[in-house]
Amino acid sequence: MDKIQEVINLLKDYNQNHIIDLLNELEGTKKQELIDQINQIDFHQIMELYDNTKKETEIKENKIESISYIDKEKIVKEQKEELDSLGQEIIQNGEYAVVTMAGGQGTRLGHTGPKGTFKLDVYGKGKYLFEILIDNLKEANKKYNTTIPWYIMTSKENNKETVQFLEKNNYFGYDKNYVTIFMQSGLPLVDKEGKVLINKDLKIKEASDGNGGTYSSLRASGCLADMKEKGIKWVFIGGVDNVLLKMADVTLIGMAVKKGVQIASKSVVKANPHEKVGVFCKMNGHPKIIEYAELSEKMAEEIDENGELKYGESNIMCHLYTIDAIEKISKETLVYHSAFKKNSYLDKNRKEVIPKEPNSYKFESFIFDAFEFFDEMALLRVKREEEFAPVKNREGVDSPKTAKELYEKYWEKVKGQ
Ligand code: UTP
Repeated sequence: MDKIQEVINLLKDYNQNHIIDLLNELEGTKKQELIDQINQIDFHQIMELYDNTKKETEIKENKIESISYIDKEKIVKEQKEELDSLGQEIIQNGEYAVVTMAGGQGTRLGHTGPKGTFKLDVYGKGKYLFEILIDNLKEANKKYNTTIPWYIMTSKENNKETVQFLEKNNYFGYDKNYVTIFMQSGLPLVDKEGKVLINKDLKIKEASDGNGGTYSSLRASGCLADMKEKGIKWVFIGGVDNVLLKMADVTLIGMAVKKGVQIASKSVVKANPHEKVGVFCKMNGHPKIIEYAELSEKMAEEIDENGELKYGESNIMCHLYTIDAIEKISKETLVYHSAFKKNSYLDKNRKEVIPKEPNSYKFESFIFDAFEFFDEMALLRVKREEEFAPVKNREGVDSPKTAKELYEKYWEKVKGQ
């Protein structure tokens, strides 16, 4: 049987006849590219994920408990100095690396181009999100007299534009030799009937497979091996869209070292008991971030012996790992969640359709689902107004407007000190 017939049979088996039509229309390189792509896709996995979207989610009996944390503001001076110097030593010894997850689609913001290339209207001139991150890293480099290796994760969709943007802007002054850009893997988008979408480039439309893909992509891209060769012992992983993100926090590192844990993270107190954010807890004895929808009203409002919310430590995507933890997780399989989203596609007349309503399933794994592979993690509670100003939505909460206000307010305060 020839190679093309094998591909056609595969597509028939998985009910993807519209892709057979596309294949028949194409010739030469375009046809070969599509065949290569089809051969790389695990249709069995995709159809299984699609079938799962039709199933009721099984509610398991889980034992949920609160998780302990250290409040950065309440650490006594001598202890803080000890933690900071432990952290500082790691950075100065060249044992620290930073990973920025910039492979997301940024659908809610609706900016054309990678999210890091969005310019936030601060101080008149404005600053790109990538520029803001680089400023933060440069400040740490200056303070600790080093250059922190920086790894940026992009997706198949936005890699080219990200590289071009950073090149054009000369990495905003960051030493290029210390920057590595790697791509995360993707998964096809599937419509309500289980058919994969067709992309503008006449291939199957894929989207990044969630920020949980960071671990395996670090491994597959060779970045993990590179880190090990450089003698990196601690790796910070954060998002691209928090304009108050602190990427080299010596207290966080020192706390993780002192507590002897493999993973650590930061939290801010929930704005109110019903804020729609994921919170840290322990589930069945393991650290976990539980989504707001999974927390009963009673639990969301529950107060502990100090008069604080029992489940009030919300996730700001500031995670720290030992290199061994990254290695371990990169070999595990994380569960995929599905999100029903708006995604453009080509119809059977090869005309682009830009849907007004969600039309397709995107499958994503979440970075924090890996926490449950460990028994313990350390958590540092920090001040929201100093560390958390996300750019998520076009308007309203967590929008460029709120991020600008928080950013400018923070820097006014710092300058005034
Ligand atoms: P979000 O889950 O907020 O997604 O990502 P997003 O892509 O920025 O925005 P929406 O949901 O489409 O509107 C949190 C962080 O994880 C990264 C994002 O780039 C952001 O820094 N991320 C997300 C990835 O790197 N890859 C992914 O597949 C998803």
